[in-house]
Formats: sequence, C-alpha cells, structure tokens
Amino acid sequence: MSINYQDRIPNNIDLGSNRTLQRALEHWQPEFLNWWQELGPRDFQVADVYLRTATSVDAKGWATYGFVRMPEYRWGIFLADRDPERKIGFGDFYGQEVWQQIPGEYRSILRRLIVTQGDTEPASVEQQRMLGHTAPSLYDLRNLFQVNVEEGRHLWAMVYLLHAYFGRDGREEAEELLERHSGDANKPRILGTFNEPIRDWLSFFMFTYFTDRDGKFQLKSLAESSFDPLARTCSFMLTEEAHHMFVGDTGINRVVRRSLEVMKELGTEDPLAVRNASAIDLPTVQKYLNFWFSSSLDLFGSESSSNAASYFANGLKGRPDESRYEDHVATEQMFTLERPHGLDVTSEEIPMRNAMNEVTRGSYVADCDLGVKRWNRLIERAGYSFRLSLPSTRFRRNIGAWAGIPTDPTGRPITQQEFDARKVDWLPSEADQSFILSLMHGVNEQGKMAAWIAPPDRGINNNPVDYEYVKLH
Ligand SMILES: [Fe+2]
Ligand SMILES: [Fe+2]
Repeated sequence: MSINYQDRIPNNIDLGSNRTLQRALEHWQPEFLNWWQELGPRDFQVADVYLRTATSVDAKGWATYGFVRMPEYRWGIFLADRDPERKIGFGDFYGQEVWQQIPGEYRSILRRLIVTQGDTEPASVEQQRMLGHTAPSLYDLRNLFQVNVEEGRHLWAMVYLLHAYFGRDGREEAEELLERHSGDANKPRILGTFNEPIRDWLSFFMFTYFTDRDGKFQLKSLAESSFDPLARTCSFMLTEEAHHMFVGDTGINRVVRRSLEVMKELGTEDPLAVRNASAIDLPTVQKYLNFWFSSSLDLFGSESSSNAASYFANGLKGRPDESRYEDHVATEQMFTLERPHGLDVTSEEIPMRNAMNEVTRGSYVADCDLGVKRWNRLIERAGYSFRLSLPSTRFRRNIGAWAGIPTDPTGRPITQQEFDARKVDWLPSEADQSFILSLMHGVNEQGKMAAWIAPPDRGINNNPVDYEYVKLH
C-alpha cells in the first residue's frame, strides 16, 4: 500500500478507514509536536535539513531525500507488508498462526514490552538535544538530525500499537511516553543508559554504535513476535536503525583515522602529544568505548530471567534471527552461566529458556566486535601496535550476576580498592571528559571538519562531502 504524504498522519495502514484510531492519534499528534519543540534538537527548528523520509516499505528505494524543517518532518506509521503465511516461529505455540489481535492473557506483558521499547526512542532525542551546537561538520549535523527525527518516528510506531491494540490503557501509556524525560529526577526514562547525558560527539558516536545496536537486537527479538503487528512494525524500524549504527561506526572510524594521521605527522604515539594537536588519543577512545559498551550490556537484562523464559514460551519475544537456530522450542537444552564467587568464578547450568537475555547479549557482543576489528585494521595498517577491544561482559555491570562486582576489563574479579585505583585507566575521568568537551566547537562551514575527526569517505545519497547538508538561517 502506498503512502499519501498529504494525509495529516502519513501511513500505510489505511488509517482513514478507522476513524476512532485516527482521531486518537490526531489528538496525540500536537502533544508530540510540543514535545519535539520543547525537548527535541535545541535551536535548529527553522534550519532546512537534508533528510530522508520513508516513502515505501520496499527494501529498495524506500526513502526519498530533500530539505525539510524538522518540525515539518512527515512522521508517520509504516509497517512492513503482511505475510499471510507467517507462522509462530518459536516457543510453546510454535507453528501456529500468528496473532492479529492480542490474546487477553498477554495484554499487560506486551504493553510493558512495547512501552519499554517506546520509551527509549524519545529518550535518545532528549539526550542528544544540545549536540547540534558542537557538530564537527554540516555532514555530521545532518546525520544527528536524521537520527533524531527517526527516533521520533519510532516513538510514533510504538504509540500506534498502544493506541490501536490497548484501548484506554494504551492511550494513557502514550501520554506518559511524553511525560517521562531523560535524566529527570522525578520522572526519568525507564532504562538507565537512556538517562546518561550525551554532551559530546565522541559519546554520541559510541551511543549510536553501541546503544542503537542494542536497539537493533531488541527490535530483532520483537520482529520475531507472534503478535504480527508488532513484528511488522519492528521489521520496518530496523531499516531505519541501520543508518544510526552507520553513523556510530563511521564516526568512530573517523576519530581513529584522525588520531593516526596526527600520530604520523608528529612521529609519536604519546597521547598527550596527540591531544595537544587537538585530536583524540586512542586510549581515550578505548575508555569511552568501555563506558558505553558496558552501559549498553545492561539493557539486555539479567543473565537468568524467568520473564525472558515466559516471553519465549509464550512467543512474545524471540531470539534475534530465530530461524538460524535448530531448536525453536528450547525446552531440553541447558545454558552454562558464569557467576562471581568471591574473587573466583563458578559456573552454573540453567534452562535455555531462562538464558534468552544472555543468548541475545552474546549475539550483540559478536556484532559489536565487527566494528572493533575494522577500526583495529586501520591502526594495524598505519603500523601501530595499539589495539582497541571490547571489555569483558562482566566489567562495570549494574544489572545481573556481575552487578556491582569489581573486575578489570578482562573480567578478572578484583578488590574494590584495586578497581578504584585503576578506574582512571579504564573509564573516562573528569579530566578526560573536560578534554573531550574542550574540543567540541560547532563547525558550520561547508566541507570543513573539526580538527579531531577525519572527513567521511563519501557524502549522503551520492552528494559530495562538502554539500550544504544543513541550511542555517
Ligand atoms: Fe529507534
Ligand atoms: Fe536508533
């Protein structure tokens, strides 16, 4: 079904045929726009930004590009096409018809899952709202805003499900999604990582690499859901999400490249010398990586979880790429978990269904590592021995068996004393943060880049790198 952009709410769900739903969403729309004006990107609402807008659900040619003022972005409701043959892919109802309506007994659990996912979308926009002032180039400024408007659209995607399938409760939840705010002392966002401030672009790139990738894996798990409208919504969101991770991946790549250029020019690896040349030394990149990776790991929840087991049993939330597994019922298998035991580690066997969070986290870690390998190839080719690495999944955890257990980045349990003494080597210190903040100055001249980042290999949608991606007025 094609999308009519003249509609007040663009959609491919034939919204016009459901007057009640249409009215409910039209009532929510001005509240969303108020939220966007108040807590969306600060001070750039009248700029013309070269943005892509989803125009169809085909994998090919699904978006068009053009200059848009952000408040006029066509936020709408898009679902992947329905596959009439689709069957439940895992759990106790494996092989049965997928659901077009929610079975009564799963209503409140599904609502919770949708609200938790939905809450992260506007949260990240709030976290990133000040970054427009310090963008290292117009290209980067445009990418920031692209990510922001699409997170706004992901909020729409979840709000649609709440309005369409959860009646009054759903409408109330949709209001609350605009009432909780990132970092708010009284009404914070639901998940910890989404209350961390993002004040600099190194953190923004780490966030889009590591935290948006958590989003990718959550969406992949929900795209397996027996509740078909949720699955189709998440499939479509994944096409947009890919760009967010691209921004993070290439952003970190360009930081590393610039650092290597400076090391070559100066003939030294000394971090201080690199900093004096206004670039970011590789050990500091590693510390920011440690921080955001460990924070994002918590988003997957506890290693052993009876909730995860029941989501799987009931077919609400599966494993990413469920079809790649052989056993979709998973009642006979066990999973080996490692737990802290003083300064030792013990292992424990738990039923596979209870380990689904850990299984998903494992796939996530493997995916994160691909980028690290690419960045390391740059360093290797430049002839340096430094290597970036993912810390152990035990490091600096706040959720699960390793929560609050001091370990070094390799995951070896250590004393709190040792951790406190070594912390400055492993995580961004106040001095590191002030240094990074000192580099943050907006560069708004066409084609110019800040000194701490290399230009991208290519521009957006076949435009040159020095294209005027944002027209400031
Ligand atoms: Fe998103
Ligand atoms: Fe995202």
